[in-house]
Amino acid sequence: MTSSFPEHSVAVLFSGGDSPGMNAFLRAIVRLGLNREKVAVLGIRDGYRGLVRTSRAVNGDPEALVRLKNSIMSHPGRAGLIAEQLDIIRMDHASVSGIMGKGGTILGSARCLEFHHKEVRTKVIELLKSLNVRALVVCGGDGSLTGAKLLASESDLQIIGVPATIDNDLQFTDMALGVDTAVHTLVWAVDHFIDTARSHRRVMVLETMGRESGDLARMAGLASGAEMIITPEGGPLNAESMQRLAAKIEGAMTRGRGHAIVLVAEGVEFDPPQKRNRAYVLMDAFQQYFQRSGAPFPDLEVRPSVLGHLQRGGHTTPQDCILAARFADCAWKTIREDASKSGITALRQNQIEIVPYGEPDMPERASFSREMEQLHDDLSSW
Ligand code: F6P
Repeated sequence: MTSSFPEHSVAVLFSGGDSPGMNAFLRAIVRLGLNREKVAVLGIRDGYRGLVRTSRAVNGDPEALVRLKNSIMSHPGRAGLIAEQLDIIRMDHASVSGIMGKGGTILGSARCLEFHHKEVRTKVIELLKSLNVRALVVCGGDGSLTGAKLLASESDLQIIGVPATIDNDLQFTDMALGVDTAVHTLVWAVDHFIDTARSHRRVMVLETMGRESGDLARMAGLASGAEMIITPEGGPLNAESMQRLAAKIEGAMTRGRGHAIVLVAEGVEFDPPQKRNRAYVLMDAFQQYFQRSGAPFPDLEVRPSVLGHLQRGGHTTPQDCILAARFADCAWKTIREDASKSGITALRQNQIEIVPYGEPDMPERASFSREMEQLHDDLSSW
């Protein structure tokens, strides 16, 4: 059975926090591999963790390697996806049918702290080589691409990174996979919160994801018309700056505004530091300000909500599905044209290109963020 094991293959894994578009990317990388490039594609379950688990199970034992190859060959496609103990699956057409718009990733994703250790990565490289893998495609965010960079520098394998994170905090690409869908989901959420905020004449403070980046909150604010956006790039908040924000809301109420939606990014910090979620800290500060003695709207209520992992799921937008296909196309072209070239797919001025690992931040990204904030302010009716 091992005689038919592919002599060359490309492996793909998803790592870190899942993001919408990962399934669309998997479909594209598999279909392009089988249809156009005529190369076998191995799907790795649970990201780097699946590789680490398998390298431990094989542990350099030739017989264990034969058993693994037999298992891979006897469980192709969906059979492999169902066989929970199998971390490496030979993908076929049917295994990626009907997954395009589905959130999450059918291969699973994980954060793998063990991968920080060089000896663990060395074993993984040995495993990939023993399986005739000539290129590994790593789809994920910052930490996952750092892992990919290390693999590229420690082996002669071709390692292609693909940016996928709702945080949009990778400054070498205009957009990462999943951002468009997450913004879409946030606009949907804000629309729901507006209904109740308007009915009760309330201030709703909604906490978005995004790690240290405010991009997700900014884009969602601009697209939803949320009244206020608070991002980490604005610096830490202290008692006075929170009072200034509350005064701004109160001022708008004085001019006839009935409700307000405030988006606060999870990366916002406080001085002094706070342990609670940002939405709750802001709620208390705002509520206290609105209820101060002699305040014009002592009954104005504030409600917090931490939107959390809701932002990572849901049906993938067409924009993300298209970006997924374009990233996969670029990955394959690079693999076909230059086996010695590792790098990351990036969207720049509507072109997809491969940039080297460690590419410096594009200055346009920071100025785009500033422009979005300015535009949001200029569009405000406050
Ligand atoms: O990086 C994506 C992200 O959703 C961040 O926005 C968030 O801080 C983090 O992952 C949450 O991670 P976890 O799913 O491990 O709780």
